[in-house]
Amino acid sequence: MSGFERVAFIGGAGMMGRALVEGLLQEGVIAADKLTVTARSGKSLGRLESLGVITTLDNCAAVANADVVVLAVHPDQALPCLTACAAAFRPDQLLISVVTAMSVAKLRRAAGGRTPVVRAMPNIAATVRASVTTLTFGTEVTEEQLAFAVQLFGVVGDVIPVDEKHLNACTGLGACGPAFAFKMIESLAEGGVKMGLPRDVSRRMAAGVLRGAAELVLKTGKHPAELKDEVTTPGGCTIDGIAKLEERGLPIALIAAVEVSTRKAAELDASADIEQ
Ligand SMILES: NC(=O)c1ccc[n+]([C@@H]2O[C@H](COP(=O)([O-])OP(=O)(O)OC[C@H]3O[C@@H](n4cnc5c(N)ncnc54)[C@H](OP(=O)(O)O)[C@@H]3O)[C@@H](O)[C@H]2O)c1
Repeated sequence: MSGFERVAFIGGAGMMGRALVEGLLQEGVIAADKLTVTARSGKSLGRLESLGVITTLDNCAAVANADVVVLAVHPDQALPCLTACAAAFRPDQLLISVVTAMSVAKLRRAAGGRTPVVRAMPNIAATVRASVTTLTFGTEVTEEQLAFAVQLFGVVGDVIPVDEKHLNACTGLGACGPAFAFKMIESLAEGGVKMGLPRDVSRRMAAGVLRGAAELVLKTGKHPAELKDEVTTPGGCTIDGIAKLEERGLPIALIAAVEVSTRKAAELDASADIEQ
């Protein structure tokens, strides 16, 4: 895509950065010699050798040589990384951040205040290209820049633009949600084991059940309650299980999990500051 030839990933040797780099390479969106990846240690960069990307420990040189900078370090490193390289950021670049609980305004200020910012919230399923990523962006971001960001995260799954006021809820549901789903898979599999299924069969089945149910919701567009009714025969076995889930509080527990994770993201967002 013209204007976005050179992309630098600050912290790109980590889990999220690498998922994006691999996705871009596999889809042929950017050639390996146009991708620069930084990390804190040479050892981490060494693990990227097979990808053929440019690697460096010098974040500011990577920023200076890029059209697009993707920030993929942990929240405690985000503002120090940006402020250290603020002089290298330009107005004609695009800064994209995947950092949890860090607002567009803080990111933009730390990067010198001249560079347009897109803030994204992907999830761990980006590593298998099945993320659902929410995106928000500052008013200065052009349609072309937004289209590039959508294309970038599109290589690792679904992309949903949202208003920034929803980003903490997107963290609580979209980014923390896979962990909640892993708990569900683990517990469903244990239910199968309790009923005598071999562990490998039970785990595979539990994961497949969640995947199948998710595909049905996404592909049919039906409300989950309608799909649940379709598989719940009156007087059959499923309604007994549903009644037990209600009795033990699964629905309210899931709602509460998203709520507390969202509130924690808001607290972290409020406590992160440029003086870090
Ligand atoms: N993982 C998720 O599910 C997920 C979901 C949504 C958002 N996020 C966000 O994505 C970001 C990255 O998460 P992750 O899971 O990919 O973390 P990670 O695997 O720990 O990767 C972080 C990377 O940042 C590098 N790094 C740290 N300080 C640096 C510095 N000063 N300069 C250059 N590189 C530096 C580290 O290098 P070394 O390897 O050399 O230490 C590491 O490769 C976080 O802000 C997180 O909140 C993650």
